[in-house]
Amino acid sequence: MRHFLTLNDLPPADLETIVRRAIALKAEPGLAADLRRKTLGLIFEKASTRTRIAFETAMAQMDGASIFMTTGDSQLGRGEPIEDTARVISRMVDCVAIRTFDHALLERFAAHSRVPVINALSNDFHPCQLLADIQTFVEHRGAIAGKTVAWIGDGNNVCQSYINAAAAFDFRLRICCPPGFEPGADLLKARGDRVSLSREPAAAVRDAELVVTDVWASMGKEKESTGRLETFSGFQVNSELLSGAAPDALFMHCLPAHRGEEVSAELLEREDSVVWDEAENRLHTQKALIEYLLRQKPAP
Ligand code: CP
Ligand code: NVA
Repeated sequence: MRHFLTLNDLPPADLETIVRRAIALKAEPGLAADLRRKTLGLIFEKASTRTRIAFETAMAQMDGASIFMTTGDSQLGRGEPIEDTARVISRMVDCVAIRTFDHALLERFAAHSRVPVINALSNDFHPCQLLADIQTFVEHRGAIAGKTVAWIGDGNNVCQSYINAAAAFDFRLRICCPPGFEPGADLLKARGDRVSLSREPAAAVRDAELVVTDVWASMGKEKESTGRLETFSGFQVNSELLSGAAPDALFMHCLPAHRGEEVSAELLEREDSVVWDEAENRLHTQKALIEYLLRQKPAP
């Protein structure tokens, strides 16, 4: 039973297939699988706009159903163990997507689930976002293999998924963050052949074909927001910084964005911005991902 808790759960060739399929489904939505009588369960412990709408729309467009619940309005909020929840829900639905704080909770759910489990964002990883980012790059610039990507800002869940993506999709990744905000040391060490760490945004973006950032305080870190404004003040991505990248460099942001903080308003609003394509591609990649995972037989 394959789950999708991180990009490492699927062979790189299958990730490529999902991205190619997403591009095909975007061009011709009628090609999508018929998921009549299939149900996707969504368990969200954190806020979401794109991820939830993309999953629910994907299921609706494939004639399946989705059931959304927050931790608070389920028995999880009253202390029912995640293992029991997994056993019960996975006897009813065909796939489950979970957005949570603690990544270990996803692993515990998956270990007791009869059906595929998707990480819809945890504190550590956001693999669904990367499928959309890769689709967006491929659509605008062709293959990402051999390219250089610069990540500017917090070494957060999206950044950590970029580290996994660098290996899976064969690109170089330069991570530029203030001291104390690096991604996990083990992850960096494991991917040391293609991932580097630096402190100077201008040097990190030089000749990069893709520049990426994300909020300075992720969900769950709200209390640190004010302090982080100061720490990250030299790490804003704007048109001036981007002008030091490769001539046709793309800028991406998973959204929601904080204008005037990690990204300037003018960069986000530029005519040539691909961030809206990137957001739309959440739908196409998540549709392709559901198709892929549902092709498996449920565990006995
Ligand atoms: N990028 C992303 O995951 O957005 P949401 O938090 O709105 O789902
Ligand atoms: N790093 C952000 C991503 C939101 C989609 C967060 O975890 O809040």
